[in-house]
Amino acid sequence: ELPVFTTAADMRNWVRKQKKSGRKVALVPTMGYLHDAHLSLVKAALEKADVVVASIYVNPTQFAAHEDFDVYPRNADEDRAKLKAVGAHAVFEPESLYVQVPGASEGANVVGRETHHPDSHETYVTVERLQKPLCGGSRPHFFRGVCTVVTKLFHICEPDVAVFGRKDYQQFRVISRMVRDLDFPIEVVGVPIGREADGLAMSSRNARLSPESREKALCLSRGLAWAEKAAAEGSVSDSAAVQAHVRGLIEEAGGKVDYVELLHAINLGPVTDLSSQPVLLALAVHFPAKDVGTVRLIDNTVLNPD
Ligand code: PAJ
Repeated sequence: ELPVFTTAADMRNWVRKQKKSGRKVALVPTMGYLHDAHLSLVKAALEKADVVVASIYVNPTQFAAHEDFDVYPRNADEDRAKLKAVGAHAVFEPESLYVQVPGASEGANVVGRETHHPDSHETYVTVERLQKPLCGGSRPHFFRGVCTVVTKLFHICEPDVAVFGRKDYQQFRVISRMVRDLDFPIEVVGVPIGREADGLAMSSRNARLSPESREKALCLSRGLAWAEKAAAEGSVSDSAAVQAHVRGLIEEAGGKVDYVELLHAINLGPVTDLSSQPVLLALAVHFPAKDVGTVRLIDNTVLNPD
C-alpha cells in the first residue's frame, strides 16, 4: 500500500527514516487532479532520488477571493492510484497547512482569500522582483502564497530534490531563486511542458473548459509554435512584433488575453532584441468555462534557448 500522510509530524518522521537508511528523497508538490504531465514530474523525480513523495494540497493562500479555489477540481482517490501506478513512494495529503483557530467564522481562517483571523497566520515568503511580472501582475497575491506553502512543504518533507514543471515557468524561476536566496539545501529540477496530442498544455483546469473553449484554447500552442518558427528562421528579431502577432492570433480565436509577454528567460527582465539571448514568450488567456466564469490558461516557450 502507498502510505498516505495527513499530518506534518507523520510525514516528517517517514522522510527522516528514509534518510537515515541512506535514501535520497525527492518531493513533487501538486494541487492534485493529476494528469500525465504531473506524472512525468514523478518519473523525473524517480530518476533523481531513491524515494519520491508527492504532495496534494489545494493551497488557499495562492487563490484570491474571486478565484477558482472552490471549483478547483479534486479527486484524491484517483490521484493516489495514479501515483502508486507510476511508482511514487508516499503521498502527503494534509487537510490544512495553516493554523485553524477554533471558533473563528468559516472563511476567516482561509489565508489569502478572506480577511483571515489574526491568530491564524502572518508569516510569508516573497521573492521581491521575480514575482512582479506576468502572473504576479494579474494575481498579485499568488507567488507569496506559492512561496509560503512551498517553504512549508520543504520544511515538512525535507527533500534533497524538488521537481517543478516548466509550464508554470515563472513559478519554477521564483522557487529556484527562493531556494538559492534562503539556502534551502535542495536541488530544484524543472521538467519540460507536457502536452495533449493536439498541442494543448496539460492542466487540471482543462477539465473546466467547455467543448468550444477546448477547441479555441489551441490558439495558445499555435501562437507559441508560430513564434518558435519565426525566431528559428530569423524572420522576426523584434519582441514587440512577436507580441503583437501572437496577441492577434489569440484574439482572432476568441481568447481574452490576460498577458502576452516576452522577457529575458532567466532574470525575467525586459527584452527588445530576440536574436542574441534566450527569451521567454509567456501567455495567459481566459476562455469561457463550462461551469462558472472563465478558465485562465497559461503556456510558454523559450525562444533561442541556450
Ligand atoms: P499544480 O498546478 O497542481 O502543478 C503541480 C506541478 O505540476 C507544478 O510544478 C506544475 O508546473 C507542474 N505541471 C502542471 N502542468 C504541467 C504541464 N503541462 N507540463 C509540465 N509540468 C506541469 O503548481 C502548483 O500546482 C502549485 O502552485 C504548487 C507548486 C503545488 C504550490 O501550491
